[in-house]
Amino acid sequence: MIKSLAYVGVNSPRAEEWRRFGTGFLGGELAPDGPNGAVRVRVDDAAWRLEIRPAEQDSVAFFGWQVDHEEDLDVVVSMLSVAGVTAERGSRELADERNVDRIITFTDPWGFPHEVIWGQHLYPSTFRPGRASSGFVTGDQGLGHILLLMPDIEAGHEFFSGVLGFELSDKIIVPGALNSRFYHVNKRHHTLALGQCPPGVAGFNHLMLQVKDIDDVGIAYDMLDEYDVPLTLSLGRHTNDKTFSFYAATPSLFNVEVGYDGIEVDGAWVPQVYNQTAIWGHKLDPEAKNRPPGIMHPLAD
Ligand SMILES: [Fe+2]
Repeated sequence: MIKSLAYVGVNSPRAEEWRRFGTGFLGGELAPDGPNGAVRVRVDDAAWRLEIRPAEQDSVAFFGWQVDHEEDLDVVVSMLSVAGVTAERGSRELADERNVDRIITFTDPWGFPHEVIWGQHLYPSTFRPGRASSGFVTGDQGLGHILLLMPDIEAGHEFFSGVLGFELSDKIIVPGALNSRFYHVNKRHHTLALGQCPPGVAGFNHLMLQVKDIDDVGIAYDMLDEYDVPLTLSLGRHTNDKTFSFYAATPSLFNVEVGYDGIEVDGAWVPQVYNQTAIWGHKLDPEAKNRPPGIMHPLAD
């Protein structure tokens, strides 16, 4: 079944800005462009991990999930079909375009486009960060984690946990303010998080990238001004995964969390419930209150 987040793709009017943002601010490396001038960013030896496609409006293009074994793709197709979701087997051309060996695609009940892949192409010892940096925690833990917003979080749990096998790590429930669930598929504390939002919409709130050194969080924080990147949440430490991080707005409506020191989970993990997101910090920047909480899209009735 699903073992990690392989890649994320978005459509965006500000795709070109990622050439500077992705390298100078994030410390990634540009890969050769994808089709139609799509900007591709590497954060490790995988061919690429982020694709930002020039478009008139911001939207999610795909979330790419990796399975360990080729045969697992067939299992994912059958699990989805039991749940009434049709997965398509992607063409050779699509797999080549994504730099993977095999691919299936499906849209979840909230309209998010997903791809499940096997055999993401790796180029060992080739990653060169775009600026001085110790690099990112990836490997078996995949790219990082994403937080999706949806109005019916219990249905979200049924789908991602019950159908796709994401295992609950924790809940954070702040009465009247936040209802969220965190899921692991490898030792990273969470690869997927679901947060409840008002009815009628769903969205992609943030991508977390974990750096290998605490100073890389500080260096990125220092660069907010130089790269004119708006802060979303100040420096802080999360209650559940203990990640020390800050959140900032990418050029494409969703946020990036630059994190360090996240705990790891194992087979003996017992889920907890917390009633606050941060031990300290992670204060919402006053200007961030005026921005949408991510790349939002309306839900079909
Ligand atoms: Fe996060």
